Amino acid sequence: MNVIRTIAELRSVLNEARGEGKTIGLVPTMGALHEGHASLVRLSVEQNDLTVVSVFVNPTQFNDKNDLKNYPRDLDADCALLESERVDIVFAPEVEEMYPQPDTRQFSFAPLDSVMEGPFRPGHFNGVAQIVSKLFYAVEPHKAYFGEKDFQQLAIIREMTRQLALDIEIVGCPIIRESDGLALSSRNMLLTDDERKRSLAISRTLFASLEYAKEHTLKETKAYVEDSINAVDGFRLEYYQIVDGYSLQPVEEWSDCDYIVGCIALFCGKIRLIDNIKYKEVK
Ligand code: PAJ
Repeated sequence: MNVIRTIAELRSVLNEARGEGKTIGLVPTMGALHEGHASLVRLSVEQNDLTVVSVFVNPTQFNDKNDLKNYPRDLDADCALLESERVDIVFAPEVEEMYPQPDTRQFSFAPLDSVMEGPFRPGHFNGVAQIVSKLFYAVEPHKAYFGEKDFQQLAIIREMTRQLALDIEIVGCPIIRESDGLALSSRNMLLTDDERKRSLAISRTLFASLEYAKEHTLKETKAYVEDSINAVDGFRLEYYQIVDGYSLQPVEEWSDCDYIVGCIALFCGKIRLIDNIKYKEVK
């Protein structure tokens, strides 16, 4: 496995591979890797001749300085996991390499970025688009892999790829959960034991709401999730939105569209967690 620090070296290695007709898969990450990331990596290794995993804690997508400072970092552990998954290239640049000067680009993904995470994390998706577009330009992958855990991010990356007219297939991958249901996240390791126990209420409530939804209206189901989450000590709900899975706009009735997803964000103590569940899916 080749650990590369600069875009120039990355380009030269990848150009050679492309010259040999190899297909390239890219898995962008911020490190502190877990089974969720590993599932994306496995799919890429399976579907491409060569897999690049980027490990970069992108400062421009953090709207909270403390969150950036406390974000877990462990490149050695990440490389060990990636090596065992037979990854070809780890791209782990310094901040100066990706941002030799401030990135002043302003993207607009309205209305996808004006809902849910948008108002709570101003500038977040612009920062995600800045780094992912730079990675796309540097790697020029055939396919790039993103998790449905970050449902809104996935929709926005698809839109960005369309806007920039890039010839990259965006592959969405299902949420990987702990055996008790908690969606895997690098932030889970920041939870205290007590918070970790409480955090179980998130996936439990979402799964229970699937059953509840069978006998209740969409509005009742939304209220059911909100009330259940608000009843947990130490939780602070930011939003629970039931949306059209394509447009991400709130829906009123179960019959309004054929792809319906419920997305939640909350603070468990000081740690912000997100999750989502599909009520209706187009197969
Ligand atoms: P990060 O949070 O490290 O996540 C990297 C990728 O792993 C994302 O596509 C995310 O959706 C996916 N992922 C995380 N947890 C998952 C889980 N439990 N199941 C399935 N997939 C999961 O998302 C980012 O980094 C950044 O915003 C990035 C796209 C790298 C841009 O900086």
